[in-house]
Amino acid sequence: MAPGAAPAPLPVLLALLAAAARPAAAWDLWALRCGFSSDCECRFRPDLRGLEFDLATSLVGQPLVRQQVMKGVREFLENQNPVKPLVMSFHGSTGTGKTYVSSMLIHYLFQGGLQSPYVHHFSPIVHFPHAEHIEQYKESLKRWIQGNLTNCGRSAFLFDEMDKMHPGLIDVIIPFLGPSWVVYGTNYRKAIFIFISNAGGEQINDMTLALWRAHKDREEISLQDLEPAISKAVFENPQSGFWKSGIINEHLIDVVVPFLPLKHHHVKQCVVSELNQQGLEVRPGVVQEVADSILYFPEEEKLFSSTGCKTVASRISFFF
Ligand SMILES: *[C@@H]1O[C@H](CO)[C@@H](O)[C@H](O)[C@H]1NC(C)=O
Repeated sequence: MAPGAAPAPLPVLLALLAAAARPAAAWDLWALRCGFSSDCECRFRPDLRGLEFDLATSLVGQPLVRQQVMKGVREFLENQNPVKPLVMSFHGSTGTGKTYVSSMLIHYLFQGGLQSPYVHHFSPIVHFPHAEHIEQYKESLKRWIQGNLTNCGRSAFLFDEMDKMHPGLIDVIIPFLGPSWVVYGTNYRKAIFIFISNAGGEQINDMTLALWRAHKDREEISLQDLEPAISKAVFENPQSGFWKSGIINEHLIDVVVPFLPLKHHHVKQCVVSELNQQGLEVRPGVVQEVADSILYFPEEEKLFSSTGCKTVASRISFFF
């Protein structure tokens, strides 16, 4: 430092040091602007390359998911002034990776991942267990979303197990999802909403099977093949959480993400990564046995795992 020059304030120095340690230009800008601030825009740290890489390497058998999630997130983030929040809906049967992908997505967007104070997770069984309290739940849910969005426009809201949500409850958040004017004086358009449900899973499975019978590869399945059936199924099913919902009717969901049923070789991939994760030796015999121990449907062809990869982790101990 030149003699007589005023010393830079400590946070700036720290920020510069942090910036020097990493080459990426985006990081430099972030470090200069945010330093060690924990404010909400600063906690929002999208790493799309990391997300894409992780989706490509660790998500098993879901080409459409990778494509849809990346497209949705990229388009949303490229827009400095989005006209509406990003609303994604994940559909598929048990064990196909919905929760896994939602955590991954949050991890690559928010510093601290699911632990971030700006990421809110709702589960009907925990937050809205009693059907008779629905009116009260409607009030609370609206107040929470509004409160959290006032606190931080860059918030994420994760709604798990939508199929267990009482019909009508979710519609109270409609004002926050649309492209209309600013609600209650808050800019809510930078928020992200993710719905997760098994609803539509049956339709996805049926269509994947039908396409397989027509000698179409799962890589050839397009969103256009699936999306109408999923929307119809969740809208018409009283147990979907979206029954007759304005969210579907008003087309507030930007990205529908179908999770396809997994085949035997996908389950084997899950077993291998689980063994690796647990630090166990990958023995081909064990991989085969674990994958064989799972039930497959339909009855005759036994093509798809009825629990996806869900029970893989717990089964490994039986075969190791
Ligand atoms: C934000 O949401 C949580 C529920 O996830 C709630 O407990 C909290 O009170 C909300 N915050 C505000 C400021 O409303």
